Amino acid sequence: MTLPSGPLAHNLRLDTACLTAQLNQQNIRIDRFLASGGYGSVYIACIKDNCEYVVKVTFMTKDPLSDYEKEWKAQVLAASYNVAPRVIAHWICSTNNYNKDGKEGAVGYILMDKYDTTMKEFTERGGIIPAAVIDEFKKAYWNLNQKEGLYHVDSHVNNIFVKLNASGTAVKLVLGDWANAKHIKISPQRLKLWLTAPKYGSTWNSDPYEVWDEDIYG
Ligand SMILES: Nc1ncnc2c1ncn2[C@@H]1O[C@H](COP(=O)(O)OP(=O)(O)O)[C@@H](O)[C@H]1O
Ligand SMILES: [Mg+2]
Repeated sequence: MTLPSGPLAHNLRLDTACLTAQLNQQNIRIDRFLASGGYGSVYIACIKDNCEYVVKVTFMTKDPLSDYEKEWKAQVLAASYNVAPRVIAHWICSTNNYNKDGKEGAVGYILMDKYDTTMKEFTERGGIIPAAVIDEFKKAYWNLNQKEGLYHVDSHVNNIFVKLNASGTAVKLVLGDWANAKHIKISPQRLKLWLTAPKYGSTWNSDPYEVWDEDIYG
């Protein structure tokens, strides 16, 4: 097992024995840094020779443990409706300054399918998402919300991931980053409004329902 050098800035604070054991046990190799986010970083990861995965590393210095659990559970549920990247594995290791209460200093890992780009990057480079791909995503998300009452809450364009085919055409959209997801059933009218009213061409600027808790129904 080799840890990537460079951008794994949190390296020193990681419980490397725990991480090494987890990675070895599951045959995972962390390949290289991909992106950083609010509470951690995302790395490209390989299982044997297949590097079509990413591992999201979340430092729970601010986020309580329950948020990490909420995230992977919501993602597993959303993935079963084709609305999120498939979760391959998840585990927790501590840092060296792990607290007694098991919260401060814990590090959560989610290994999932890798997507090729984000909606933001893709559309900023002039990419157009085919209408059929958008429709498929809308249907899947609608289905998830109406059947499970799960709502993403943070569905801006950095959190919408795009799968491309060999010629660079967008073939699938999913929502990533389920840390803020809520169990709320959005009224069909409002969900429809968001899904049918893209702000910038074929993209969505932000989630207009983020703070509209009064819209919870059922
Ligand atoms: N499954 C994935 N495939 C491709 N890129 C990803 C994937 N998961 C995360 N990323 C990249 O990492 C960034 C941060 O991940 P995200 O889950 O949104 O974390 P945060 O909660 O820190 O915003 C994303 O905006 C995206 O660029
Ligand atoms: Mg994000």
